[in-house]
Amino acid sequence: MCASISGFSKLSKSKKIDWIVDTYFSNAEDAKRILKQYWNSNDKLQQLHDEFIENTITNYYLPLGVAPNFLINEKLYTIPMAIEESSVVAAASKAAKFWMDRGGFKTQVISTTKIGQVHFMYYGSTENIKNYFNSIKSQLIEDAKPITKNMEKRGGGILDIELRDKTEYIEGYYQLHASFETLDAMGANFINSCLEQFSKTFKTEALTFDGFSEEEKNIQIVMSILSNYVPDCLVRAEVSCRVEDLNEDKNISAEEFATKFLQAVKIAEVEPYRAVTHNKGIMNGIDAVVLATGNDFRAVEAGVHAYASRNGIYSSLSHAKVENGIFTFWMEIPLALGTVGGLTGLHPLVKLSLELLHHPTAKELMQIVAVAGLAQNFAALRSLTTTGIQEGHMKMHLMNILNQFEATETEKATLTEHFKTNVVTHSAVVEAINQLRINN
Ligand code: HMG
Repeated sequence: MCASISGFSKLSKSKKIDWIVDTYFSNAEDAKRILKQYWNSNDKLQQLHDEFIENTITNYYLPLGVAPNFLINEKLYTIPMAIEESSVVAAASKAAKFWMDRGGFKTQVISTTKIGQVHFMYYGSTENIKNYFNSIKSQLIEDAKPITKNMEKRGGGILDIELRDKTEYIEGYYQLHASFETLDAMGANFINSCLEQFSKTFKTEALTFDGFSEEEKNIQIVMSILSNYVPDCLVRAEVSCRVEDLNEDKNISAEEFATKFLQAVKIAEVEPYRAVTHNKGIMNGIDAVVLATGNDFRAVEAGVHAYASRNGIYSSLSHAKVENGIFTFWMEIPLALGTVGGLTGLHPLVKLSLELLHHPTAKELMQIVAVAGLAQNFAALRSLTTTGIQEGHMKMHLMNILNQFEATETEKATLTEHFKTNVVTHSAVVEAINQLRINN
């Protein structure tokens, strides 16, 4: 039976669970047991998790793995990755090890500017709104001082505010387009608070601006919100080596590998169907580190994909070339990340992940995350252009299939041994389990 409910949010956690299990589950006791199985026995820790979001009924675990041997700008890192997909951590680790022996990853933060906008409607003369904006701009910044003063002390704050005329798209639509430096904070709350203050000042002061007619004084604020599109919060990650040093695989020469690798990247540059999957592989690495370090992967995903479409066609985020016998593989991506604020000081595993990364600044974290994405892309392309993806992926996925069939530890050991020399496919594993069980 399905039902609606009023006042659900006001119920205690146990009453919420009672309502859910009684309303939706044929075996209410069983559902309740599963929900409780994932609670933490430490009440304080559980309460912390309960209070991260609303209407919490249990915890949803993701594995936290680590990928060692990342040499980034001559410094070694072990990178934490929170992800459910098998073979991602192994692929990152393998790429890290490969490039550690070839000079490691080189990275550079290109820019760190973040954006926020006040969207408003104004139906008067363009000249008059421009005059008003010019007369009020310094007061917009001044009125936000209570919000910005601490950030300014640390060296950040509001960088600029522009008036943007968008009336060619929507009649009467203008923006205050503001740029910010938020240092080690991702900055969403800071930016949104500034924007809401701008909108108050902007609307109120218009009422007494002499240069407006009575009608023009009525500025209608639609909304004030940061943008997750941050093309000027950009980081570059790169690897390079002599073509002949690419060789590790006996079945393909270094030159042939470099050629196929470049072709694979070029295809992703021009073919959106391929680019989406290519970039998904990059996001395997990026999201996993973003999550492990308590950052907002939805914001990162939205911003990165917008950036991948910036030239009017969805395209590869990474690029490769061979020049004078040197293979270079690189990527520039927008990443708005924080190492203070949000979950970073709250979630014990986030704190642990940040400590594992030597307490990075936001700029350092941008570089680490970009490297995880590039490494992941390298590993995936390497597999795709040599063995095919399934060999390695299925090798890592074997344990999931065995768990699906509730294999015992002895069965797991026998079948892991068996699949060291046999190709892993779902049906091959099923057949091998069945055979093993018949024989025993
Ligand atoms: P392999 O050569 O069979 O591994 O590769 P190996 O057993 O010879 O070990 C070599 C190294 O790999 C290890 O060194 C580890 O670094 C790592 P060691 O630790 O022994 O010194 N490694 C592991 N690390 C942790 N746990 C493990 C493990 N096994 C190896 N169990 C591997 C196997 C999966 C790494 C390789 O085949 C690979 O890189 N495959 C790519 C996998 C991949 O990209 N997965 C992502 C999911 S597929 C996807 O969603 C993206 C995609 O669609 C994107 C696109 O299309 O572009 C593909």
